[in-house]
Amino acid sequence: ELGKYRHYMQKEIFEQPQALGNTLEMIAGGGGISPQLFGADAVGIFGATRRVLILACGTSYHAGLVARYWIESVAKISCTVEIASEYRYRDSVPDPETLVVVISQSGETADTLAALKFAKSLGMNKTLAICNVPESAIVRETALRFVTRAGPEIGVASTKAFTTQLAALALLTLALAKVNGRLSDEDEAMHLAHLRHLPVAVAKVLELEPEIEGWAQRFASKHHALFLGRGMHYPIALEGALKLKEISYIHAEAYPAGELKHGPLALVDKEMPVIAVAPADSLLEKLKSNLQEVKARGGELYVFADAGSEIPQSEGVHILHMPEHYGLLSPILHVVSLQLLSYHAALVKGTDVDKPRNLAKSVTVE
Ligand code: F6R
Repeated sequence: ELGKYRHYMQKEIFEQPQALGNTLEMIAGGGGISPQLFGADAVGIFGATRRVLILACGTSYHAGLVARYWIESVAKISCTVEIASEYRYRDSVPDPETLVVVISQSGETADTLAALKFAKSLGMNKTLAICNVPESAIVRETALRFVTRAGPEIGVASTKAFTTQLAALALLTLALAKVNGRLSDEDEAMHLAHLRHLPVAVAKVLELEPEIEGWAQRFASKHHALFLGRGMHYPIALEGALKLKEISYIHAEAYPAGELKHGPLALVDKEMPVIAVAPADSLLEKLKSNLQEVKARGGELYVFADAGSEIPQSEGVHILHMPEHYGLLSPILHVVSLQLLSYHAALVKGTDVDKPRNLAKSVTVE
């Protein structure tokens, strides 16, 4: 079943172009975005949505954090994202006009299911599930649903489920924007063209594997690593750190790069590799000065740039240029390199990549 791959995780990383193509099949033709992709009642529910509340755990929570940037900037709808196990145990202010979005690969995560039921018990019945398993417990509980078509994910560390969740959330953003009159025909056509290009774009990122493997070999002997990102790439830094922790057992933390000087900079020395996600966006100049702060303290930098990011290579600064600049969908491409990085770090360390210690694929207990 593994074919030419050594592990399910590697196979699943390389299946992402296909998984994305399948998930986005309904927009493959020339037409526009249809809110009905989310269910028959989607137009009514999306049209009345004044707030979005996203609930999820782990990697799925990181997908929600990326979506918040998209939903606020494109659909202009206020959005909050909360860890399901926290939401269900706190007193919050329920709002029946809020669209509650739960994200779960398995659809069986106990905390996410309980958070959804809790939200419903507070009178929030406009609910949407983004899930990879059509007949799962979570999907049965929501008014609307979108089933990602990643196919079965065997490796405990989530990879293709995450990128297909992001694709679904990009579609949700466009549907919300369209129903609420915030998407011009030109912008819709542009966003859809970028989505249709995703499988090809991801396939090109996968070709960077040999270089990324070289990086992993350089820092796999370290005990700690710091991941930096800004804006919608901060959640990608979080996801990169989570992947590294889970499968290579290297302690990793992620920070929005602007926070460095508020504390974590104290940790930086030559024993602390710093991995930065640095696409050519409006935050690049700011990020460069953050990287300078790291370099001045002797930190070894590994920078994932993209086609437009001009960052000079120098002593202790390694730069890998992604083939293109991806705009709004950039988090989907950048996470693929971080998946490869943690996979190869784990190979060097010889850990059980597909079944990391202490973890289960589906967390059906609280
Ligand atoms: C990390 C990972 C977990 C899951 C989390 C939620 O690689 O897989 O963090 O994302 O347990 O699982 P689902 O998405 O099935 O609800």
